[in-house]
This record gives sequence, C-alpha cells and structure tokens, in this order.
Amino acid sequence: MKFRMQPSQSKFYPYQTTADWLDYFRRNAPETLSVETDHRPLNSEEFARIATSIPDFQLGESSEGRTLRRLAGQFSDRFGLPEYSEAIDLFIREENRHASYLLRFMHQHGIPRERASLNNTAFHKVRKLLGIETILRTLVTGEIVALTYYSCLAKATESPVLQRICERILDEEDAHVSFQLQHIEFLNLQKSPTAAFLGDLLHFGLLNAALCAVWIRHHRVLRMRFSLFGFVRQANCDLSAAVHHGRKTALEMIDGRSRKIAFA
Ligand SMILES: [Fe+2]
Ligand SMILES: [Fe+2]
Repeated sequence: MKFRMQPSQSKFYPYQTTADWLDYFRRNAPETLSVETDHRPLNSEEFARIATSIPDFQLGESSEGRTLRRLAGQFSDRFGLPEYSEAIDLFIREENRHASYLLRFMHQHGIPRERASLNNTAFHKVRKLLGIETILRTLVTGEIVALTYYSCLAKATESPVLQRICERILDEEDAHVSFQLQHIEFLNLQKSPTAAFLGDLLHFGLLNAALCAVWIRHHRVLRMRFSLFGFVRQANCDLSAAVHHGRKTALEMIDGRSRKIAFA
C-alpha cells in the first residue's frame, strides 16, 4: 500500500477575501489564552529537552514587525485592499501573544529567555532584504516549521499547561499559514506563470535550508515525533498542501477578474 503523508494543518480556511481575514482576526483578538500556573515541576529529562529550544521559538514569535507593517501598508494601497494593513496588525499581535504564553511558561520553570539567536537573526536579515513577498515567504516558512515543532513540544513534557499552549498556537498557526499563502499566491497571480513557478520553487529551497538549521538546534524536541527524514517530509508536505490551498483561495479572491491586476 502506498503511504501518503497527511498535512499537519488541521484546518484550511475557506476565506475568499482579505476582508474575511480581517473579520477572522478581529473575532479572534479577544480570545486570549489565560496561562495557568503550572504546579508540576519539569523533571530533569524534560527540562534538558526543552530549555535550550523553547527560548528560540519564543524569540521568533516576539517580533514587532515594523518592516512588515510598512510593506503591508504599501500592499494595501497598491492593490486597493485597505483591510490588509489592519489584518497584518492583528496578525502581529497574535504572534506576540504566542510569545507571551511561552514566556509565562518559561518564567514558571526558570527557563531563561533568549535575546538573539542565529536562526532568528538570519530570518530577520532575509526579511529586510527584499519586498513583502520575501517577508511573507520567510514568515510562513517559520509557520510551516511551527506546525511540526509545536506538535512535538506538546509531547516533550507531561505538562498540561504547555500542552494547552501548544494546542492554541497550533490552532492559530493553521490560520496564519492559510492567510499568508493566500496573499503570496495573490502576488503570484500578478506575475507570469514562469516567475510564479520559480517563486514557489525558491520557497521550497528556503524551507529545506531552514529545516536543516532547525533540526540542528531543536532535534531533541523534534525527535518526539519525527526522524530527520520524517520532519523534512512532513514540512514539505505541509508547504505543498498550503500552496495548493493558497492558489485556490487566491483565484477566488480575484473572482473572475483578469489574473493580472495591474494596480501599480
Ligand atoms: Fe506564532
Ligand atoms: Fe504565525
């Protein structure tokens, strides 16, 4: 029997417009998770497994997103999508909320926070180099990694508090992946099919480079569910399913209009 891997994303959001996404982010904004006090101490094995890993992801979730906000404003103006700017603002707040959930857990267990890491610095540098498409592609690459990482982190300890945090983050990352890929594929519709194909191809290259770096640093957590091969395979399957879904929703977004919307 041929084995086919299922994407990690538990939900693909069928939203057709940026306004639908803004509505989603507004509805989700008050849904803050209250992280309770974790009375169960981590044993030494659990601590060793996660203590050098969580801080890197906590840092990754805590960006202020200044470059992204500025470019999202330009995107809104260029394509006549005023809702995009606010949706991005709310999206950044949601990411920062993930950072604060993790930080609270870290404080409870005496795990020190990280101020800068090689993975995060590299991601930030790449994001600043080019336009919004590069930023969105690097962001969603981190989110594709997050889909596998948090599912492993939930199993890395017996802590029900950490499990609830991971569950919430995974739920919201599902939405983020759909949101980003829809707008990335919308940008692809403004290009020739060859340029769009190359953009997607480079994205898989970026993902696989990121996976190697993430494995080196976080394999103790990732091994809870995956071998290196399984991790690479799952993340590629996730990106492929998300690109496919993003294309479908981006086409619905331009609904019957010409593929190329030359607003510039
Ligand atoms: Fe996040
Ligand atoms: Fe996210």
